[in-house]
Amino acid sequence: MIKLQAINKSYQQGKTSFHVLHDINLEISAGEFVAIMGQSGSGKSTLINIIGFLDDQFEGTYFYNNLPIHKYSRTQFSKLRNSNVGFVFQNFKLINNLTVQENVGLPLLYAGAKRKDISKRVLEVLQQVGLKHVEKELPKNLSGGQQQRVSIARAIVAKPKFLIADEPTGALDSQTSAEIIALFKQLNREKNTTIIMVTHDEKVGQQAERLVQILDGRIISDKKVGLS
Ligand SMILES: Nc1ncnc2c1ncn2[C@@H]1O[C@H](COP(=O)(O)OP(=O)(O)OP(=O)(O)O)[C@@H](O)[C@H]1O
Ligand SMILES: [Mg+2]
Repeated sequence: MIKLQAINKSYQQGKTSFHVLHDINLEISAGEFVAIMGQSGSGKSTLINIIGFLDDQFEGTYFYNNLPIHKYSRTQFSKLRNSNVGFVFQNFKLINNLTVQENVGLPLLYAGAKRKDISKRVLEVLQQVGLKHVEKELPKNLSGGQQQRVSIARAIVAKPKFLIADEPTGALDSQTSAEIIALFKQLNREKNTTIIMVTHDEKVGQQAERLVQILDGRIISDKKVGLS
């Protein structure tokens, strides 16, 4: 599904250029649960922003389901993003003055879905993440773990082809982290959701099926883990 070849990425700051990703080759198949680990500043977010079609400024080739994404225009890029990727972030990024139900339904509203279909699908995903009882609440009345479940529901509501999660447990205690990872595992197993997750936490990383390690913008290890 995802095939990166010889990806290089530099950030320009004034006259200086920082070479952040070096010759990245990475293939991810549909249905995989991949964790990406590495020190702060090693380029993890930069890499997944490219994978998730958030950043089209890179060198090298990116084939997505055999489509040459590296040749796409910015408009094509954002279209692809909207219809293929769900995002989960460390700090949830929920909209404070919208209810749980409204937050989760937003991607469908933007996609032009009918109100009736939206509420049906929203209830379905809230049930999937174990949150049906708080649909009318505002995010601030929920625990961190519950808020992350809301953001996961929002990420999967439009049935994306893959999920990108950047430090999804970074703001959670270890018990709550374990619950969130269990939810990811369940989505991966039962719904065959492809998940690409960045984490600092070795314990969390070991829960994926595959662990990719990055050091100074280079992949230094890529191996099967977990097997549980
Ligand atoms: N927009 C930007 N402009 C310039 N430099 C950037 C930009 N974004 C990131 N960088 C630099 O690129 C390098 C990699 O950053 P990146 O955010 O990908 O690392 P990371 O592995 O996700 O780190 P962390 O674990 O802290 O989130 C860092 O040195 C960072 O300072
Ligand atoms: Mg990061």
